[in-house]
Amino acid sequence: MAEIETQRLEGYRRLIEIARDLASTLDLDELLDRIVNAATEITEAEAGSILLYDSTARRLYFQTATNIDQQIMRGLNVPLEGSIAGWIVTNRKPMRTDDVHVDERFFGDIEQTVGYATKSLLGVPLINKEKVVGVLEVLNKKSGTFSDADESLMLVLGSQAAVAIENARLFQQSDLISEFVHELRTPLASLSTATYLLMRPEIKEEQRTQIISNLHNETLRLNALATSFLDLARLESGRVQFRKTRFNLADLLNECKDMLQGKADEEHVSIKINVPEEMPTLEADRDKIKQVVINLLSNAIKYNRPNGSTILSAESNTTHILISIQDTGIGIPAEALPHLFEKFFRVREHETKTSGTGLGLSICKQIIQGHNGSIEVKSKAGMGTTFTVRLPRGAKTVPRQ
Ligand SMILES: Nc1ncnc2c1ncn2[C@@H]1O[C@H](COP(=O)(O)OP(=O)(O)OP(=O)(O)O)[C@@H](O)[C@H]1O
Ligand SMILES: [Mg+2]
Repeated sequence: MAEIETQRLEGYRRLIEIARDLASTLDLDELLDRIVNAATEITEAEAGSILLYDSTARRLYFQTATNIDQQIMRGLNVPLEGSIAGWIVTNRKPMRTDDVHVDERFFGDIEQTVGYATKSLLGVPLINKEKVVGVLEVLNKKSGTFSDADESLMLVLGSQAAVAIENARLFQQSDLISEFVHELRTPLASLSTATYLLMRPEIKEEQRTQIISNLHNETLRLNALATSFLDLARLESGRVQFRKTRFNLADLLNECKDMLQGKADEEHVSIKINVPEEMPTLEADRDKIKQVVINLLSNAIKYNRPNGSTILSAESNTTHILISIQDTGIGIPAEALPHLFEKFFRVREHETKTSGTGLGLSICKQIIQGHNGSIEVKSKAGMGTTFTVRLPRGAKTVPRQ
């Protein structure tokens, strides 16, 4: 008994340190990593994970996990009914078992997908202001079974974690809003100058036409900015639910080509499609993948040169499908490459030549990551650029050795 008390006291002492540590970061990913690491440490577990709960979409999904491949785990949905984590969310209670396989609530699909064998499990709800924001789980106690002491430590950690997660989310949103407002300033300033000039009686007819044309372009740009910004804000908040279907990729690439052919003709740029005959179907959110390809292809056309070309191609291996968008355009300077997927980032040299919001690639990245995929870029200034999107072939068909 005395030993359990000592263990509990030591655990609480660690918790106080952890609380301080959690309060020091507002980066959501970093914070979630710290929480799972703290949870596995204080309960002496082999692994841990955090699932986040989106109450509007009623969606529960993995966000962070230790010892398990992040790429595969992240974004995986867990049903609210028929899973332990779902039970924890619905009942707002902790749950402990020595062997998940004898628990009828256990959702075996995940184990198959990620190839990690779970035996004992302890999970607690993450509740902030009466709202369940997720579930914190630890798996496979290194020796013995999860105890009452482990459960109470996890409950305390869970309540600290829930507050920290909400704070980080709010901060993320306010950060995004202030960046957006900052981006609004430039077009608003030119709109106000333009209208001021239009009111001047001495303005010549020719100048007037020029100003009106500028006004028109700036309003189009503001409109694009608002649409892209909303898309991105929704994706970043985790509120977007991907609607997966199985579809033929060659058809989708052809539709994207048709949509942008007019623009390509205007710029004197050709579009070729290169897809092997034997291409497996892809399971993903078709509209969202289309949005990604359209974004990348319109960049390939926009940042090209007259008589340049673009190639849309696809290939597959046993686990993934790769889509690449290649162009013979102006390329991207090496020092800009690390910033390319940042919000509002545009290559300085390109800013004067073309208009854009600098949000297209951030949106692409969010969509692809939401599908457990990845997006990469290779480019040589003056030579051309290739973007490669790598997507798992299907949600539940990730074979593991
Ligand atoms: N294929 C490409 N070739 C050269 N530069 C590129 C290419 N794709 C993107 N870039 C550079 O990366 C920047 C960011 O691209 P992104 O698509 O995010 O924004 P954008 O094209 O400027 O705006 P939007 O897509 O919202 O119209 C671009 O401004 C451009 O400088
Ligand atoms: Mg773009």
